Amino acid sequence: MKKILSQNSAQTKKIAVRLAHNLLKSGRSKSKAAIIALYGDLGAGKTTFVQGFAKGLGLSSRIVSPTFLIIRNYKLKVKRYKRLYHVDVYRLHSVKELESLGFKKIISDPQNIVLIEWADKIKKILPPDTIWIHLEHGQNEKRRVIRIYN
Ligand SMILES: Nc1ncnc2c1ncn2[C@@H]1O[C@H](COP(=O)(O)OP(=O)(O)OP(=O)(O)O)[C@@H](O)[C@H]1O
Ligand SMILES: [Mg+2]
Repeated sequence: MKKILSQNSAQTKKIAVRLAHNLLKSGRSKSKAAIIALYGDLGAGKTTFVQGFAKGLGLSSRIVSPTFLIIRNYKLKVKRYKRLYHVDVYRLHSVKELESLGFKKIISDPQNIVLIEWADKIKKILPPDTIWIHLEHGQNEKRRVIRIYN
């Protein structure tokens, strides 16, 4: 586990950019998608983290939370990966609902990077090599404690 302190949202984005670059260098699994599972309280910075991560992958589109859509995807122009999936399961009623949106196929395609907000809600269907990231409010309004488990 790696614990990082963030002083503001720009720093959280920078941390995410770095993680995205690490992922591109490491080229994890060649047999399934790279999955980054984000969890932590309302407003802890999950979407902010995804915005930084997307920037780190060279995406310039504005990333808004897919809360009502559950899943949004963006085309990537990097080696190895073709698409970034941004999933937000906050309003999900059941794992079945997610599966009806093609989630199984999404996480099994090695050309996908999948970031999931509120991922602890669907923990049981995520593979063991998922990168788990916990975001927590810190001692003042802008501080966050970020813990990376990989
Ligand atoms: N250090 C920080 N890291 C991330 N966000 C921060 C930080 N400091 C302040 N913020 C602010 O906190 C808010 C975080 O909102 P964000 O939507 O990223 O959280 P979230 O975890 O996705 O929330 P939700 O649970 O609603 O999905 C933003 O308004 C952001 O500007
Ligand atoms: Mg969010």
